[in-house]
Amino acid sequence: MSLTLKPRIPVRAKISSVGSFVPPHLLTNADLEKMVATNDQWITERTGIRERHIVDKGVATSDLAFEAAKICLSRRGIDASELEVIIVATVTPDMSFPATACLVQHKLGAPHAWGFDLSAACSGFPFALQVGAKLVESGAHKKVMVIGADVMSSIIDYTDRSTCIIFGDGAGAVLLEPCEPGEIGLIDYFHEIDGSGAPALNMPAGGSLLPPSHATVDAKQHFVHQDGQTVYKFAVRKMSEIAETILTRNGLTGADLGCFIPHQANKRIILSTAERLGLPLDRVVINIDRFGNTTAGTIPIAMNTAIEENHLKKGDLVLLASVGAGFTAAATLLRWEF
Ligand code: UT7
Repeated sequence: MSLTLKPRIPVRAKISSVGSFVPPHLLTNADLEKMVATNDQWITERTGIRERHIVDKGVATSDLAFEAAKICLSRRGIDASELEVIIVATVTPDMSFPATACLVQHKLGAPHAWGFDLSAACSGFPFALQVGAKLVESGAHKKVMVIGADVMSSIIDYTDRSTCIIFGDGAGAVLLEPCEPGEIGLIDYFHEIDGSGAPALNMPAGGSLLPPSHATVDAKQHFVHQDGQTVYKFAVRKMSEIAETILTRNGLTGADLGCFIPHQANKRIILSTAERLGLPLDRVVINIDRFGNTTAGTIPIAMNTAIEENHLKKGDLVLLASVGAGFTAAATLLRWEF
């Protein structure tokens, strides 16, 4: 017998549903004033954050991812049994292994799905979105769920004022499906990684380099360490650079965008990118004031905010952009199709 390959039919991928979830418990700037030497004015002026949501003890990343996935599925009106792939972008998996995707698959009751975790910090969601889109575009799968979820409070030192004011917990999920005739869906992506940035933002211990020990715990090496200024300078430059690159190579300018959904790390980074692109603020999604930086969760949570606040309508050109630990950087251009 000889192998006969079928001709490949070009398929485009689109986002067909969105869901997000944050835990109910709020940690406000006033709460933080009682924990470290900080104040509401400094946090608001330097970051734009007023409050963030934090899990109660015992709630893990898979729990938030599960809730976001359920909402995403119910908005699309389908059952978890229809899912073929689940990809979870996270830097705070429930445990080193198994993958959080397996735990979400089990919680959802998705017996036909395979999947895996993807680690790219704040760019985790857009990176995972492209991997999921390629699985749809190849014709291999028709229903791929992409989740960005993090419980950052599990790796934050609440005595370190330079990091504890920034991060929150949360999850967002999208469903990827093949486009219908006339739809365009995901258009282009531009991704970069640069490992020379690793010392500027990391969690030093707990991996193969520095396995957990009394010494690593005593040295607080299981918490996020960030050189804020270095990351800030890189993020301001890189966010604009990748956004301009992807727009230019698609013959577009900021004026063509219906909606810009950036990673929510610092309001000043978002405003500077919007200004560089010449975007009026009514076309920029900003929810950092309510959620802080939820790492892989920010972009799908912001997509949900955009829907709830009527920022998004069918046919809009949408730009996603993120910069984060690694360094990693991602820009995604897509047309909104629902
Ligand atoms: O999503 C992952 C990627 N991460 C990012 O994109 C984060 C990028 N970085 C940032 O957003 C900012 O660098 C921070 C918000 C982390 C810090 O803001 P900054 O304006 O860069 O502050 P800084 O670190 O330069 O500190 C300025 C001053 C210092 O005091 P002195 O030395 O000038 O007296 C800090 O000690 O502010 C002080 N400071 C604070 N004061 C009150 C630092 N943190 C605090 C605080 N409350 N929480």
